[in-house]
Amino acid sequence: MKFFIDTANVEEIRKANDMGIICGVTTNPSLIAKEGRDFKEVIKEITTIVDGPISGEVKATTTKAEDIIKEAREIASINSNIVVKIPITEEGLKAVKALSKEGIKTNVTLIFNSTQALFAAKAGATYVSPFLGRLDDIALPGINLIEEISEIFNNYDINTEIICASIRSPLHIAECALAGADIATVPYKVITQCLKHPLTDIGIEKFRKDSEQ
Ligand code: E4P
Repeated sequence: MKFFIDTANVEEIRKANDMGIICGVTTNPSLIAKEGRDFKEVIKEITTIVDGPISGEVKATTTKAEDIIKEAREIASINSNIVVKIPITEEGLKAVKALSKEGIKTNVTLIFNSTQALFAAKAGATYVSPFLGRLDDIALPGINLIEEISEIFNNYDINTEIICASIRSPLHIAECALAGADIATVPYKVITQCLKHPLTDIGIEKFRKDSEQ
């Protein structure tokens, strides 16, 4: 399974990239707004740090297929490794179909059931982003969705890659890997949580003390 980092914070991206864990980045309008910076400026800076796929999302106010296509072309022109993130709607899928014919990579987002994922793949999406955490938040097991999409894509040899999104804990990552997901996009906080284990801390402390003797 590959790892992307789910943030628009360039310091976090640098740190995760330096650790050798990530090979891509996902952003969304909320993550960009949190940084208080211009969308294009942030995405451009991210391209100077990471060579792999970088998802930049169309504005939520852009709803018609022709406008999504126009905006997607602008976003894709920022750099060759840009992937345009588009919410799953009827107009969104029309745009995905047209963009895939032009060779523009897309990440269809806000996926909450397996037929949405299947339709996005049919339209030509490069990636689909099912949201685990937000399903867990409403007491529906998000991991079931990843398992279903993974099984369906395997049944039909679908090449669209599954990006597990809305990851909230190290357990989510292990579950996604077991479910056969292609990618997990992980917030920096969860990356650091994954590195922690109380026995690691105790072991380091013991080795430190012993090496001082
Ligand atoms: C990334 O592609 C998603 O936009 C993101 O993971 C959503 O995470 P959240 O549900 O924690 O906001």
